[in-house]
Amino acid sequence: MRERPFAMEIFVVPDASGTGAVAAGILAAVIRSKPDAVLGVATGSSPLPVYAALAEHQLDMSRVQAFALDEYVGLAAGHPQSYAEVVRSEVTERLGLDPALVSVPDGVAEDPHHAAALYDAAIRAAGGVDVQILGIGHNGHIAFNEPGSGLDSRTRVEFLAGRTRQANARYFRSIDDVPTQCITQGLGTIREARHLLMVVNGADKAEILAAALHGPVSPECPASVLQLHPHVTVVADEAAAGLLGVKLGQVAVRVATPSA
Ligand code: PGA
Repeated sequence: MRERPFAMEIFVVPDASGTGAVAAGILAAVIRSKPDAVLGVATGSSPLPVYAALAEHQLDMSRVQAFALDEYVGLAAGHPQSYAEVVRSEVTERLGLDPALVSVPDGVAEDPHHAAALYDAAIRAAGGVDVQILGIGHNGHIAFNEPGSGLDSRTRVEFLAGRTRQANARYFRSIDDVPTQCITQGLGTIREARHLLMVVNGADKAEILAAALHGPVSPECPASVLQLHPHVTVVADEAAAGLLGVKLGQVAVRVATPSA
């Protein structure tokens, strides 16, 4: 039985730039009303149009705080594919954030397990995340919570799934260069954000998106935890939304009734 009312908005737009415009509009509204908002930022290709569209709003984001979802373990500091670098160029610089207010897990810490625990505590100490931007992996991962991740898991060191390393090989010279381990916010950590904003593009994500939103809530599909959260917005392009039963130009608001 659900303990809280549950609403999920789904916006379906024509293409990736449309997802960016809609998601950026939501973020801009939050930042205008709370200039020191805490954002959860994601890497990967899906959120890039969001950051590009948010930059167009030309907001003063100097007081916004940001926490990245994850980081590879073991890439040298400054490695162009480290998420610290991606966040620096795509988020901090593009949006004019204060670098001192932007955090990424420390993938080169001597003790990455300790770094993970400190990161989890830092999010809590900041008062928690107001809006968490999320992508979804082909295997249903969110952040680097691969299938099998505990629904209440905390920020921790994990191994990347083979499929994730394959997908991310496009950013490296070869798959052998893709790290095997990461520090990732846990599903329990992510669920503590007050608003989850998932951005999904492309027909190759249609099946997993439908499974995440309509299938069973299970560690086998980590993104299914969205169904447990009281405030979720999904922004999908038409191709990714293909199996959701929500058509282009529709906004679906699903309010779940308590069920067994
Ligand atoms: P993508 O990655 O946005 O590059 O498809 C999503 C993810 O793996 O979480």
